[in-house]
Order: sequence, then C-alpha cells, then structure tokens
Amino acid sequence: MSEEASGLSPLDEAGIAAAVEEAVAAFAAATTLEELKVARLAHSGDNAPITLANAQIRTLDKSEKPTAGKLMGGARKAIQTALADATARLEAESEARILAEESVDVTVPVRRSPQGARHPLTVLIADLTDFFVGMGWEIAEGPEVEHEWFNFDALNFGPDHPARQMQDTFYVEGVEKVGTEEQFEAVSNLVLRTHTSPVQAHEMLRRGAPIYIACPGKVFRTDALDTTHTPVFHQVEGLAVDKGLTMAHLKGTLDHFAKTMFGPEAKTRLRPSFFPFTEPSAEMDLWFPQKKGGPGWIEWGGCGMVNPEVLKNAGIDPDVYSGFAFGMGLERTLMLRHGISDMRDMVEGDVRFSLQFGTFGRGN
Ligand code: DAH
Repeated sequence: MSEEASGLSPLDEAGIAAAVEEAVAAFAAATTLEELKVARLAHSGDNAPITLANAQIRTLDKSEKPTAGKLMGGARKAIQTALADATARLEAESEARILAEESVDVTVPVRRSPQGARHPLTVLIADLTDFFVGMGWEIAEGPEVEHEWFNFDALNFGPDHPARQMQDTFYVEGVEKVGTEEQFEAVSNLVLRTHTSPVQAHEMLRRGAPIYIACPGKVFRTDALDTTHTPVFHQVEGLAVDKGLTMAHLKGTLDHFAKTMFGPEAKTRLRPSFFPFTEPSAEMDLWFPQKKGGPGWIEWGGCGMVNPEVLKNAGIDPDVYSGFAFGMGLERTLMLRHGISDMRDMVEGDVRFSLQFGTFGRGN
C-alpha cells in the first residue's frame, strides 16, 4: 500500500463497500437528472474515491493486484448498475412529467379566424363563364371607362337618345369639346359604360365574324342605392354573329342558359320591345318555378337580332352575316334565384351575406 492512498485503498474491502453503499444511496436519493449528475461526478467521476482507488491498483504489488482488481471491479460494477437504474428511473419520470406538462387540451376554446366566402356574384360569373365556354363561346371583357362612341353611337343610339342624358350616364371629366362638331364627334367623350353592349362593337372590330362571345362585367348608372337600384352593377352580354343565325338560335340559347341557371323547368318567353342596337328587339321573361308565391314569369333582360347598322359600324357585312344578342343584370339574376329582396345586401360586402352561399360557392 502506498502512502498516496490517503484516500481509499483498493484493498480496503470495508471502505470500498461503504463507498459503494454511499454511491448507491446518493443515486437513489437523486430526484432529478441534474441531481443525479452531481451524484455521479461525486461517486464515479475522475475524483471520486472509487475512481482514485482504482487508479491505485497499478501501484500495488503484483501479488495484491488480483484481489484489488476483483474488489474494485465488483465495486465499479455495483456503482454502474446503480447509476444505470437511477438514470432509467429519472428519465422515465422526466418523460412522464414532460408528457403531462406539454399535453394539449383539445377541448380548450380557441380564437377562431373566420374563413370568409366568395361573393355570390363572383361565383355566378364563374358559373356562367363555364356555361358559355362549354358551348364553345369565348369570354370577352371591355373597358369600364368607355368612349361615348362605343357606349352609344356604335350601338345605333341617336344623338338625342334619352339614355345619354346626364341623369343616366356618368360622364368622365376632362374631355373638352374641341374642334368642329365632326372633329369632336371623332374624339368622343369618355363615360363609365352604362351597359356591357359596347363590348360587342370592340370585339366585332377586333375579331370580325363569325363570333360567339359572352361579356360579363361592371356597369354604371347614375342611380342612388336603394332596395332595387345600385349605381354600380353587373351584366352579362351575349353576342353571336354568323351566317344564317335566326331568332330560333337566340331562343334556344336563352332557354339553355335559363335551365342552367334556374333548373330544368325554367324557360324563356320573348315580348316585343325596342333597343336601338337590335331589330327586332325583345324583352325576355323567365319562367321561374321557385318564384315566391308560386311559379311565374319574371323579367330577366333584353335581347334581339343585331341591328344591321351595328354590324356595319363594326365593319361586318349585314348582307352576309346576321347575329343575335342579349344582356341581363347579374344582381337581378341572383336576387331572382335566391329570393334576395334587398339590393343593398348584394353590395355592402358583409361576409355574413356571402357565407349563406357556402364558403366556396357552387362548382368548387
Ligand atoms: N344593353 C341593354 C341594357 O343595358 C340590355 C340588352 C338588351 C343587351 C338587348 C342586348 C340586347 O345585347 O340585345 O339594358
């Protein structure tokens, strides 16, 4: 035995047993992994009595080494086993505690972020676009700030037509009357388009005939907002120009459209009317099976055979081509279909209104 062994001797059986007992007790007493770490360093770390005693073995006489080795081996094994047991116990406890602390109570009320809904008009425009594209028609859009020429003249409105008057049409400021009357006529005022019919002239000039187009879009009139009017609303315009088109094609198209929008029992009826851009012209009524108070006819829009003057204005020869056109209000279409009685609900943008039509609307 060397004198360095002021600590524990690797041959001191009782001392070693006591050190082991102390270590085992310290590990067992640890209540957290942190406490266990402190105990581990104290009882089996580099400066622990057992570790130091173990290091003494190499200084012993050869004859003493086997006994010391056996003693120390048993001691270190006992300490490691106790440490492993304590580690396992504390890890299990810590895991259980984490699971308990971090568990999520799925029944706790949370703050909801409302999802919103597409406006029924947006959905309607998507639906009717599908309808026309399904028939092989194309979708066209024109400018909302429009030349007076396209909004009126191209469509055969006379210079004194009452619709041009200030009370119906929003004129856009800034266009001054310049030059002679003819020169000014060529420049033309700007207006907010009062209907989607000017898209007819744009597209006929751009594409020529034959042409099959539907033009959904915003239109503007100087009306005050009330239960049945709004200064900004939407229309869809239909235009077909080809060789040999007749009112029968118009009627068939309208009936098909009505059935798609309002169900298989829907149909249309035409009543004689007047529009400068169609000849003959008709009001179209819709047979609406779900009408409040029982099925009945409801006014739905205007239509007719494209006036030969309109074809000429757009560079199409009326001796070769004929066409039909129609236009209807989309707010009105929705109000009819869903029994909405107040126009203001359509424009105020209250999400609770849109939500009634489903989060994504039909067709999604
Ligand atoms: N543009 C008309 C309006 O705003 C609706 C209309 C009537 C469109 C007859 C047409 C049509 O294409 O042929 O009241």
